[in-house]
Amino acid sequence: MVELVPSILSADFARLAEEIAAAEQGGGTVIHCDVMDGHFVPNITIGPPVVASLRKTTKLPLDCHLMIENPDNFIPAFADAGADWVSVHYEACRHLHRSLELIAHHGMQPAVVLNPATRVDLIRDILPMVHHVLIMSVNPGFGGQKFIQFSLDKIRALARMRQELGLAFRIEVDGGVAHDTVARVVQAGADLLVAGSAVFAAGNAEENARMLLAAAREAAGEGPVPAAGTGAREGSRA
Ligand code: DX5
Ligand code: ZN
Repeated sequence: MVELVPSILSADFARLAEEIAAAEQGGGTVIHCDVMDGHFVPNITIGPPVVASLRKTTKLPLDCHLMIENPDNFIPAFADAGADWVSVHYEACRHLHRSLELIAHHGMQPAVVLNPATRVDLIRDILPMVHHVLIMSVNPGFGGQKFIQFSLDKIRALARMRQELGLAFRIEVDGGVAHDTVARVVQAGADLLVAGSAVFAAGNAEENARMLLAAAREAAGEGPVPAAGTGAREGSRA
């Protein structure tokens, strides 16, 4: 089942609660929080205090993408803030296994992120530990960048590896996921679709989310999105 994961990076930070509510109404089921430290990436965004505030505004899982150096130092603070999923960059972790264990130890779902230039076979041995792998399809740091095409090969390679190893981790994609790229991303094997500017940069966030999710589900061969409030549920035995 594909899921839309709106990234608040492109939302209006003065109206985050409303923006999240709109994206949720449009079918977003996980909220992506981009945490940047000005060192690992050339930008600064939010940290645990903002995540703690978001926790009070939505029941959706908060997916915290840590683009920071020394992520281990901040994992307890994200747990206290109410984060549900925490992903750390392969390139930022000297002891990735330890970082993933630390996340799980704090009761959150651990995930690893790969920059565009990092090969997927490097994480083969730790795949049994992760809830998901995040494939960056842009260089991290900014919203609104162009989708890097060879990310599709990486998604396909990871999906093959998942099958070979008999694992069930999910494959998330982040960067340039929009109306013109989403079908190829889904067909390559991704099922968690992060989208920032495609949802929040222009127009109506609810409508943008709905259209993007509909395109994703169509590409996945899944049925149309049930209208909000119809009571239709996944897996119900009609
Ligand atoms: C970029 C962030 C993304 C960003 C994606 O470093 O990790 O989550 O919000 O933005 P779009 O969807 O605009 O490419
Ligand atoms: Zn992100």
